[in-house]
Amino acid sequence: MNDTVIEVHDLVKAFGDFTAVDHVSFSVQRGEVVGYLGPNGSGKTTTMRMLLGLLRPTSGTAQVLGFDVARQAERLRPLVGYMSQKFALYEDLTVRENLVFYAGVYGLRPRAYRPRVKAVLELVGLAGRAGDLARVLAGGWRQRLALGIALVHEPQLLFLDEPTSGVDPEARRAFWDMIYTLAEGGATVFVSTHYMDEAEHCGRLGIMNRGKLLALGAPSALKREVVPGQAWEVVAEPLVAALDALTAAPGVRYAGLLGDHLHVITQPGVHTPEVLAAVLRGAGLAGATVESADITLEDVFTELATRRPAVTAA
Ligand SMILES: Nc1ncnc2c1ncn2[C@@H]1O[C@H](COP(=O)(O)OP(=O)(O)OP(=O)(O)O)[C@@H](O)[C@H]1O
Ligand SMILES: [Mg+2]
Repeated sequence: MNDTVIEVHDLVKAFGDFTAVDHVSFSVQRGEVVGYLGPNGSGKTTTMRMLLGLLRPTSGTAQVLGFDVARQAERLRPLVGYMSQKFALYEDLTVRENLVFYAGVYGLRPRAYRPRVKAVLELVGLAGRAGDLARVLAGGWRQRLALGIALVHEPQLLFLDEPTSGVDPEARRAFWDMIYTLAEGGATVFVSTHYMDEAEHCGRLGIMNRGKLLALGAPSALKREVVPGQAWEVVAEPLVAALDALTAAPGVRYAGLLGDHLHVITQPGVHTPEVLAAVLRGAGLAGATVESADITLEDVFTELATRRPAVTAA
């Protein structure tokens, strides 16, 4: 069995003279949870819609489940699930009726969909609310139903486009638990997000900016390979003076405000906390403290977005 479920080569989508997806290449293996992280307008949805065969690539190729997205979209679509960024529910139907409706759209007969709808209700945690009208569901529950709809025909590959946007952290965590459950059951999940914290949950993560895939790898590998150096947490008063002093110090790659402290990245091997504290003392900030910190995905994104793009295979 071929375990490559998505294979993309040099994929481009141009709208007029604007390139929304710019020569993107990657592949995804069966059972992976691959995230696609990028700011608004970076090309996440456009990439997904091409992979679903909903949007024709300008150039390049994409094979999904062995089908060419440009030529075999109708064969591909019944096999994949899609939770669109702006999904619509039938507000005047109940949770169960929404699922039954979509099961019908996918051609499932009652004998097949009855047990499937039941299983999906359990899976997405809506069994107790099957009789509620969609319109009374709050944010996190609506996302669950939308996920259920994307799953009703038992697809082996799921495209989730910012599925947790606008829901509270607890609902997001619960949603990620469902994603893991699906992956454990053998499904492949391709999920876009602009939340750095949830990007950490992905087995591998692609980082998009302005239509380009800047890097793709495990979050830990990206942090190690993309951001060479050491991160520090600096507490000082006033913070802005510390920021100026550190930004000007040799060997400091990055210094920025992060809540009540500074997050600082230095070149590998250049600095110890004592050296940084000395820089701060030299700027009249005698009481400053410097502690080592973790490199974050935000550091990875900043590093990639501000330097010449290069794809890292990690
Ligand atoms: N049909 C279209 N015609 C013209 N431009 C488009 C079209 N669809 C998307 N774009 C542009 O392509 C760029 C990428 O859009 P896309 O929706 O793929 O971004 P995204 O990463 O999904 O952003 P978001 O996080 O806001 O959902 C944007 O600048 C958008 O305005
Ligand atoms: Mg989008």
